[in-house]
Amino acid sequence: MIGTTTAVALLGLTGQMVEVEADITPGLPSFTIIGLPDTALSNARERVRHATSNAGCPLPARRITVNLSPAALPKFGPVFDLAIAMALLAASRSISAESIGRVVHLGELGLDGRLRPTSGILPAVAAAARLGHTRFMVPAGNADEAALVPGIEVIPVASVRDAAIFHGSTLQPQPVEPILLARESATETPVLELADVVGNRDATQAMVVAAAGGHHLFMLGPPGAGKTMLAARLPGLLPDLGPLESLEVSSLRSLSGDIVGSQLITRPPLESPHHTATAAALVGGGSRQIRPGAAARASHGVLFIDEAPEFNSSVLDALRQPIETGVISIHRANAVATFPATFQLVLAANPCPCGQYGARDSECTCTPHSRRRYLARISGPLMDRIDIQLRVQRITAAELRMADGEERLDTATARSAVVAARSRSAHRLEGTPWKLNSQVPGSWLRTGPRRLARSTTASLDRALERGGLTMRGYDRVLRLAWTVADLDAVETPTAEHVGRALYLRKSLQS
Ligand SMILES: Nc1ncnc2c1ncn2[C@@H]1O[C@H](COP(=O)(O)OP(=O)(O)OP(=O)(O)O)[C@@H](O)[C@H]1O
Ligand SMILES: [Mg+2]
Repeated sequence: MIGTTTAVALLGLTGQMVEVEADITPGLPSFTIIGLPDTALSNARERVRHATSNAGCPLPARRITVNLSPAALPKFGPVFDLAIAMALLAASRSISAESIGRVVHLGELGLDGRLRPTSGILPAVAAAARLGHTRFMVPAGNADEAALVPGIEVIPVASVRDAAIFHGSTLQPQPVEPILLARESATETPVLELADVVGNRDATQAMVVAAAGGHHLFMLGPPGAGKTMLAARLPGLLPDLGPLESLEVSSLRSLSGDIVGSQLITRPPLESPHHTATAAALVGGGSRQIRPGAAARASHGVLFIDEAPEFNSSVLDALRQPIETGVISIHRANAVATFPATFQLVLAANPCPCGQYGARDSECTCTPHSRRRYLARISGPLMDRIDIQLRVQRITAAELRMADGEERLDTATARSAVVAARSRSAHRLEGTPWKLNSQVPGSWLRTGPRRLARSTTASLDRALERGGLTMRGYDRVLRLAWTVADLDAVETPTAEHVGRALYLRKSLQS
């Protein structure tokens, strides 16, 4: 008799159904798994054998063959243990073959027969649910996570014995301590207060514009100017995540092995990889199970590259393709894993190795050559994709005093302005593939139905003629002008909006 059930193989965030078939035939005792298993999966043999035996439902000492299909689909990790065990118990007629056929099984077995929580349960269940599957047996420790997918039935089990009893085994229940995760819920990115930033009006305004239009941002300034402080406040300005975004962000956490808990993440994430990060840490990788990198984990939120020139330039360049396409593809010999990469990029840098160049209150000790070399480490093609370029200055004692009684923009007010501006742009862009101004191609803005009048863009045209602006830069200013106008709640940008946009683009060059 052959026992058949299903499990899910994940490649990046994409899941595909895997059929798990088990056959037990007379012959010398053996246990073979076929269908492209990796090492962790081959070890399933030992885990399944010990787990079933310790749970009181040992496998027969005969020829055992397990087939995972489609064979060409790469399969990683221990998540197939439960499906293999159930298919085998059905093949040995200990449980109902019909019952296991109606359930998707996901979970890793411990030698004692208990089920261990596994990473990637949320994206696996979500993928299978999309394919029409509705019943899922998962480790008790992953039950909350699986239940985050709407419209499905979750069957949590603590041990392989409980699983067998569910599927009609005549064994008596034997309560065991389920293996649970150490912490119950996921950590949301904390929302920091924008009003903590004293002075630096230009910079806080630029953050609001960046949030409203989804524009990438580059900040240049001496140490202590507040670059890190500003970047950490950007996620707080973004609207709450929608249901699909929440599911995607939480799924990426689950794949990284983070706790997902009983609630989806609802706030945009902030990822700030250290400058010693490798390309794999940034865009994802790993030799077996392909894990998401910081860029994928920043999807629907902010990827903050602090001290950008300190990064290896080839590592930074690995971001170019994701920024362009919104997708990260990781190629392996027999598979391509894809992750979303819809993050907002924030780069920060000191102006030179000593950090003081251009600062109002101190002297730079670097040579012109080392200064040029320093910023050149952020490649032109990457900088080209960044709409807002901002110089941030350390605030002076006088400014600090002046700012004392001044009213400051707080995060809640800024966020509602951002939400309003985003809904204006989404409304205007209805019927196009874009929602945010940063997504709109320059050619559409220049020649499409929303082309601005000559008189409005006069300052821009002049800058282009004088060579102060490239064509790419021109398009970026146009996009920014629309965002500035959206924040002002006007129908079409005026010359003043274009002027403000030009400033957000060109403040670096002064
Ligand atoms: N405008 C400001 N308002 C309030 N606090 C500020 C401001 N600017 C800087 N600070 C304070 O100064 C400290 C240093 O700022 P931050 O770390 O953001 O600087 P930075 O520009 O990232 O410097 P570095 O180049 O060294 O990384 C912060 O802890 C912050 O509290
Ligand atoms: Mg910093």
